[in-house]
Amino acid sequence: MSIIKDVGVFDSTYIPKEIPVRQDLVDGICAKLRISSQYNLLLTGLTGNGKTITIKKVIEKMGKEIIAVYIDCSEDDSYGGVAKKILSEAKNRTYKEKGKNRYELADELKKLMLTKRTKKLFFVFDEIDKLVKKKGDHWNVLFPLLNHGKASFIFISNDGFILGKLDRKIFSRLQCEKRFLDIYAGGEIAQILQQRAELGLKQDSYDYHLLLKIARFSSDISGDIRFALKLFKKVVMITELNKEQKISEKTIKEAIEELKLSDIDEIFPTLPRHMKIVLVALCMDARQNMGFSDTKSAYKIYVFNAKKESFGAVGERQFREYLSALEMLSLFEFQWKPAPNRRGRIRIAIPTFDFMPWLDKHFPNNGDAMHG
Ligand SMILES: Nc1ncnc2c1ncn2[C@@H]1O[C@H](COP(=O)(O)OP(=O)(O)OP(=O)(O)O)[C@@H](O)[C@H]1O
Ligand SMILES: [Mg+2]
Repeated sequence: MSIIKDVGVFDSTYIPKEIPVRQDLVDGICAKLRISSQYNLLLTGLTGNGKTITIKKVIEKMGKEIIAVYIDCSEDDSYGGVAKKILSEAKNRTYKEKGKNRYELADELKKLMLTKRTKKLFFVFDEIDKLVKKKGDHWNVLFPLLNHGKASFIFISNDGFILGKLDRKIFSRLQCEKRFLDIYAGGEIAQILQQRAELGLKQDSYDYHLLLKIARFSSDISGDIRFALKLFKKVVMITELNKEQKISEKTIKEAIEELKLSDIDEIFPTLPRHMKIVLVALCMDARQNMGFSDTKSAYKIYVFNAKKESFGAVGERQFREYLSALEMLSLFEFQWKPAPNRRGRIRIAIPTFDFMPWLDKHFPNNGDAMHG
């Protein structure tokens, strides 16, 4: 018997009706849009923390109250493309821009803004940095929108300093609130996974504490919710293939292995910053120590290398958590050894990947881990 009710809900492109964790943010933005006809916001933060889904829910919730135009600048990053999109979405029909030059398009945008209407206009520019990169294009698009008539603007970007990169004339016309969204914490990821489990799995095929395990592991190694969803999907698929009736801890381990995270070049860029510095410290210690690291001396190297970080080094407890995440990722194996002075034991870490060439390639000047 299958444990799956609906396999689609495990995709990272799936958008549920209600969204856990970010609902208050959605409501807050809607309230501000209702009060003002010129509410501007920059929503920023690292990748995969719910920026796009939040704004999509805002548009959904505002419904017919407003005329919303959503532009994904990673798809349309040229003046012509964006202008066409704005004109067709605002007028609710396909707009033929062919044959129009940029002055005519600017004129059309101006007309759109000057048209009297009862509903408020609301523009969303997702991944606005892509448009800003193409020098004049953001000016051509935004200037007519800002200079004639009223509208609200929401900009979304991973780059928190993107507004400063806008043309000065544009910048001075925008009074923008800035919201920095934190990455999801383990408990929040668990809420999101739990909702997917309720929607997609049969009852009794999962336990909350195992969802929490997947969530915590994911938040340790990546801030991007898509990673947790990918791992969860893998777990579900393996359980199904093995014809098991319930998700188990063993399956989670198997799924982690199957994600092929042991490929250092693939996994390293996704690790949180301090885990990167820990990993480098273990490798540096192993280089001096015949291929294995004494975790105590690795901690000292880590502390030294993390000195320049804004909040300094993490404590030993968090350090140990990083070690167990690195073990889960199969990047290191751990063993206890009698101490050389025969008093007590030391815990050693053995890299499972070819760490010497890797270290030489990425940290040639013997370990300034800051450039990771
Ligand atoms: N609060 C949430 N509840 C349910 N699902 C979520 C939530 N946040 C994110 N997701 C899921 O994760 C996916 C990615 O989220 P989203 O597109 O909002 O990230 P983002 O912050 O815009 O990322 P990027 O910076 O890479 O554009 C969504 O399509 C959705 O499936
Ligand atoms: Mg996004």
